[in-house]
Amino acid sequence: MKILIAGGAGYIGAVLVPKLLDRGYEVDVLDLFWFGNHLPPETGIIKKDIFEINAQDLEPYQQVVFLAGLSNDPMAEYSPSENFIFNAAAPAYLAYIAKKAHVKRYVYACSCSVYGYTDNELFDEERPVSSSYPYGISKLQGEQAVMNLQGEDFSVISLRKGTVSGYSPRMRLDLIVNTMFKNGVRNREITVNNPSIWRPILSIEDATNGYVRAIEASDRISGIFNIASGNYTVGEVGDLVKMAIEEQLGFRVHLTINHKQDFRNYKVSIQKAENVLSFHPNHDVKSIVRNLIEHMDKFQDWDNPQYYNIETLKLLAAGGLRAVAEVSR
Ligand SMILES: NC(=O)c1ccc[n+]([C@@H]2O[C@H](COP(=O)([O-])OP(=O)(O)OC[C@H]3O[C@@H](n4cnc5c(N)ncnc54)[C@H](O)[C@@H]3O)[C@@H](O)[C@H]2O)c1
Repeated sequence: MKILIAGGAGYIGAVLVPKLLDRGYEVDVLDLFWFGNHLPPETGIIKKDIFEINAQDLEPYQQVVFLAGLSNDPMAEYSPSENFIFNAAAPAYLAYIAKKAHVKRYVYACSCSVYGYTDNELFDEERPVSSSYPYGISKLQGEQAVMNLQGEDFSVISLRKGTVSGYSPRMRLDLIVNTMFKNGVRNREITVNNPSIWRPILSIEDATNGYVRAIEASDRISGIFNIASGNYTVGEVGDLVKMAIEEQLGFRVHLTINHKQDFRNYKVSIQKAENVLSFHPNHDVKSIVRNLIEHMDKFQDWDNPQYYNIETLKLLAAGGLRAVAEVSR
């Protein structure tokens, strides 16, 4: 089977692509390479913007996975207009041409941030969504557009992911557990901005296994699925990262607790993904920290702007985001 992954050179793609190659799939990555190329040499590389691709280009593929766009709130707020193009129009256009090209399945990278600020109840996929910020609104618009295209010969699966964390060859240090880990190791201090808010946390291994489950699901399956390794309050995540660093690296870490307002608060049920996709997470915060420690020699240049999406975006913005980035490895 031949799979195209748009945005496959990013944080999630750099772990997913080797897994798919290991399983014998042929994988091409279509990407602007904002964060360089950290993919295995066997990967097919297409250095283009999604909007430069047409239906004919997609004819060789059985599946298309969308992992592109502006992938967090700070990026979306830096340029709300680009955000709506990259996060709402691009996935809709790619799904539209994929269907025209008779691709069998489209997998869309959605986010649990579509749930916005909830009342501490467990949300399943039937619950109303209510984000009022550019990132969450655009991820929902992308989802609505691609889900509307599903049909008998075109399966569409949307994975609403919790905040992903853990090591990837294309590393990010702007994701909750990774940020706390960096601060704990580098400054021996972890700051928790609001201990009471809830976040579904998703280890990068569970996240990429979720994509494998979606890609390998029966052709008849379409739908929206929450995926997470577990629901935690941010205060608990701080405690768990502190304990894991102290246990595994042997030094003390100080915890600073603030009580700042946040506009996202949600916990999600993953029962549908367990029942329909056979998605069963195997990781927790402690094992995410273990995974970070195993690889920490590879990202100790802590201030590298490539580890912080908003920093890279600011550097790229002057040259235009739609051009292929000239970033070395
Ligand atoms: N990382 C998370 O915690 C998380 C959680 C929920 C949802 N998501 C979603 O999952 C997807 C992947 O996240 P990530 O952390 O791997 O992102 P990332 O920022 O690491 O990578 C995104 C990649 O997409 C490419 N790209 C962006 N727009 C493009 C375009 N128009 N054409 C071609 N390439 C383009 C970039 O060059 C980059 O390599 C995103 O859609 C994000 O919104 C991520």
